[in-house]
Amino acid sequence: MTDLYGLAARLIRVLEPETAHQATIKGLKAGAKFRLGPRDLSKADPILATRLCGLELASPVGLAAGFDKNAEVPLAMLRAGFGFVECGTVTPRPQAGNPRPRLFRLDADLAVINRMGFNNEGLDAFTARLAQLPSQRSGPIGANIGANKDAPDRLADYATGLKSVFGLCDYVTVNISSPNTPGLRALQSKDALAELAGRLAEVRAERRAATGRNPPLFVKVAPDLAEDEILALTETALAFSIDGLIVSNTTLARPNTLRSDQRGEAGGLSGAPLMAPSTRVLASFHAAAQGRLALIGAGGIASGADAYAKILAGASAVQLYSALVYEGPGLAPRVARDLAARLRADGFASVSEAVGAG
Ligand SMILES: Cc1cc2nc3c(=O)[nH]c(=O)nc-3n(C[C@H](O)[C@H](O)[C@H](O)COP(=O)(O)O)c2cc1C
Repeated sequence: MTDLYGLAARLIRVLEPETAHQATIKGLKAGAKFRLGPRDLSKADPILATRLCGLELASPVGLAAGFDKNAEVPLAMLRAGFGFVECGTVTPRPQAGNPRPRLFRLDADLAVINRMGFNNEGLDAFTARLAQLPSQRSGPIGANIGANKDAPDRLADYATGLKSVFGLCDYVTVNISSPNTPGLRALQSKDALAELAGRLAEVRAERRAATGRNPPLFVKVAPDLAEDEILALTETALAFSIDGLIVSNTTLARPNTLRSDQRGEAGGLSGAPLMAPSTRVLASFHAAAQGRLALIGAGGIASGADAYAKILAGASAVQLYSALVYEGPGLAPRVARDLAARLRADGFASVSEAVGAG
């Protein structure tokens, strides 16, 4: 059997980053089509089984948004050992994104800078693929929704997105924290978020009545937030029945530890240098929410130790992306195995026991 993960990992290292990514998606799609496999790695150690806002996860280690923007390979990524997979960000209309190059590997820093700008095929293509998925799958598949760069009414774009994906996925993430769509992060301010969350609550009530379903709704936030913004965001999310927060997206900060020549590129920084700052912000959200919101930790996870640190800081589940650029799609089961060993070593019987225990 072809070792698709090994092949993908080698391609990722030698090709221009975005070309490598496209080749990885194509390889995973071809593998699924011709049933070449990679081996099904979706069975996780039972200690990792956990619940996230009613979603059953075999493992709390999920794939973050941006890897599968067009919902092309969610099943392949579940087979690759992720406990849940977030597709998107999808915008209502197809969008080319920023000119290339727009994705940079900072090899010396195990980091990535991207200014993709929501390149995606739009909601029609995205929802058509979601509609093809089998109803029985080995983990939840989420849809991450955004707004077109030139949208006359951005809130309407989010409402359209929520309405379209509502019955087709297991959870929905509202991305208001991409640094690559000018002005988008302003939606994190108290009044703007209240207006957006109010609109989404209406859509949700209407769709819930029509479909009998009610997938959890998460909001994805930036790591570049001050304590007062964290408190305001938490209270606003609670006031509008948002189920959880994904903490965090990429950062605009450029730590002075960065060594790669590419560190001056514009865009969002992710990978290893984001681990400590995003975990600090996660801990602040945990303190602010006091168990009233689910938190999903993302930013710089490359190992079981990193995933465990997020859980101890208050995350009920975690997501990663950038480390795949360095390690290839075989990373998820390694992180999961190491996390399971750490939970046992510290005497925890489950993930949920460890949440916030740090
Ligand atoms: C190339 C790239 C594209 C991304 N695209 C999206 C996106 O479309 N929507 C989103 O919410 N986050 C996106 N992200 C952010 C990731 O989902 C994640 O929050 C962030 O990279 C931190 O995790 P990491 O350090 O494990 O990568 C992207 C990240 C990268 C590296």
